[in-house]
Order: sequence, then structure tokens, then C-alpha cells
Amino acid sequence: MRKTIIAGNWKMYKTINEAIELTNGLKREFDCLETLGLEVVLCPPYTALSDVSELIMDTDIQLGAQDIYWQDEGAFTGEVSGKMLKDAGCKFVIIGHSERRQFFGETNETVNKKIPAALRNGLTPIVCIGENLSEREKGATFKVLTDHIENGLKGLSTEDVQKIIIAYEPVWAIGTGKTATPAQAQEAHKFIRDLLKKLYTDVIAQNIRIQYGGSVKPENAFELIKQPDIDGALVGGASLSVESFSRIAKSASEVKK
Ligand code: 13P
Repeated sequence: MRKTIIAGNWKMYKTINEAIELTNGLKREFDCLETLGLEVVLCPPYTALSDVSELIMDTDIQLGAQDIYWQDEGAFTGEVSGKMLKDAGCKFVIIGHSERRQFFGETNETVNKKIPAALRNGLTPIVCIGENLSEREKGATFKVLTDHIENGLKGLSTEDVQKIIIAYEPVWAIGTGKTATPAQAQEAHKFIRDLLKKLYTDVIAQNIRIQYGGSVKPENAFELIKQPDIDGALVGGASLSVESFSRIAKSASEVKK
């Protein structure tokens, strides 16, 4: 059984005080996560990690970062290592987000170096993959997903691959208000799971969680997460308010698979 996981990617939003306010609001909403049967992860900006970590210490809410560097320490100005993220209280880290691929030169090769760095520091990587609009329109969606998976995960042992989470985030649906339909998302998720089965084993493919991301809102979360191969959501804009993020989590908890 794959446990549904709802993560909020706060991107470059929230000062420390704003992050504290949002976290306190979410704590009140999620005081009985156990009964919701979900995992909930908050991914604030680096500057707010420690404060959010302290606030959620006595709860089941978990902490994630938005990126990682592949070395554990060294003269790498501006970078943050897995060792540091662990130290700040993180259990998860987003790797290969499309905004990093688009604006900061992230490639499958860098993703491939970052995954082991996360794993050796005890962090669960949330590996983002997904096609952009022109790739979808050209009918290249599956080709892009194959490229991201095969090259991003290259060389990972079967033991390590079982520790990752994949987030399917079609770039054309991110921040645009254009969500993939539940059928489009399910088609991509099933493709990814079938590919994992081909590359690894059926058991591994059945156990890996695949989140959907791209304009997830309280209004569409239930139908998306109800799809058999969608195991949760990676939420951007709607994770920035207590009301919308907690409504998404509650919708997810109502899905019975
Ligand atoms: P939006 O939910 O704002 O579309 O962002 C999705 C995303 O990029 C999550 O990582």
C-alpha cells in the first residue's frame, strides 16, 4: 500500500515570520494527521527551514528542502549540502524541479548526482520530471519522461531506487492554472510506473510513490488523487495558504483506493 503524500513547495515565497505564521496555521489544521492517513511535507525556502523545523517538531508534519548540492561540504559558494539540510531538520528534498531545469541549468546529469547525495544523508528525494508544452504538443511526452527517468536515475541500485519519490509535473500545468485532466495525469503516471517495472521490478514499481504536481487546488485534488497511479500531490501556489493546503490534504484523505 502506497501512503498518500501531500507536499507543499513554497518556492521563493515567505519570509521567516510569514513561514512561522503559515506553519502555525497548518499545525492547527493537521493536529490529527494520523487519522487522515497521509504524509504531509512542507518545503519552505532555505532561510525558514530551521524555524519551521522547530515548530513542527512535536507534530507528524515533515520538512523538506527545495534543492540540494551533491557535495557534502566544500568551497561551493551559495550551495547547500545534504548534510546541512539534515542538520536543519529536513527529511525530504525536491530534486530536478522544472524551474531549476528551466532557469538554473539543472539537467538529468545534475539530478543524477544529487539523488545519491540526498540518500547518503538520509533524505528522501522527490525527483521531479515532466514535459513542457511544446514537447506535449509534438507528442514527445513519453520520450521526455523516459529520458528524465532513465538518465536521472542512472546507476541507482534497486535498493536505492525504492527510497525515492517521483513527482510528475507537466511544465505547462505549473503556475498556469491549467491542470492536467485526471485522465491525462493518470496516463502519464501509469506510463512512469510501467517504465519503472521494465527498468527494475514489478514490486519496486508498485511500491514507488508518484505524486502529481501542476496547479493542484482544493477543487481538483480529489479527482486527481483518486486515480489509481497518483499517490499524492506536490503543491505550489495553493500550499501558500492554510485554507487551500489543508483543504487539499483533506480531499486527499477522503480518497479511498
Ligand atoms: P503550482 O501548484 O503553483 O502550479 O506549482 C506546482 C509545482 O511546481 C510544485 O512543485
